[in-house]
Amino acid sequence: MEITFWGHACVQIEAAGYSVICDPYITDNALCLVKDLSQFKVDGILVSHGHHDHLGDAVALAKANDALVVGVAEMAGYIARQGAKTHAMHIGGAHQFDFGWVKVTPAWHGSSVTLDGQGIYTGNPCGFLYRAEGKTVYFAGDTGLFGDMELIGKLNPIDVAFLPIGDNYVMGIDDAVYAAKLLQAKLTVPMHYNTFPLITQDPQEFKDKLAAENLACQILAPGEKLTL
Ligand code: NI
Ligand code: MN
Repeated sequence: MEITFWGHACVQIEAAGYSVICDPYITDNALCLVKDLSQFKVDGILVSHGHHDHLGDAVALAKANDALVVGVAEMAGYIARQGAKTHAMHIGGAHQFDFGWVKVTPAWHGSSVTLDGQGIYTGNPCGFLYRAEGKTVYFAGDTGLFGDMELIGKLNPIDVAFLPIGDNYVMGIDDAVYAAKLLQAKLTVPMHYNTFPLITQDPQEFKDKLAAENLACQILAPGEKLTL
């Protein structure tokens, strides 16, 4: 399994001959070095919620690749109305796709899109567990800390967890360290920071605090790959 971090919360996973991307915020993502959508070949697109920095280029990417977009029902409904192929799920549900197993996990956040100046509610925000090649990835989405992360990790032993650390909209470093302690992933990767000034964080501080808890952390620069 090969995982590429594109900056912010955009994570691409290549496994078992398939390519899946989480929260494909590409063209407007200041951290993403590749802006040309045609460079992204994907089979599945996981969208955690409707905010612009997560829904991102999902619709365009889905149409260009004839890819399937997975999200909670209200999110999937919105995306389907934009003309992309979707699969609606909801929190707690899992499904085996060609491109891997996906389970929808809770996230404490909001979810809406703005269309013609109007806010449209896009259901509960969520996170995802993704499994292929016997490896499990946890993508927390945008969320605050919650105690049920312990259950997520206990019931689904995690190889790598992507956790937001940017604060203000999501967990800050100390809460994310606590989340990592609950999840007990083999490896934790920070995300959702340094995309814009309000979410400036030092990922090395996160890594050092995890090291003090005997938890492994890898900081991925935008465009960097991780091989599991
Ligand atoms: Ni958000
Ligand atoms: Mn966000």
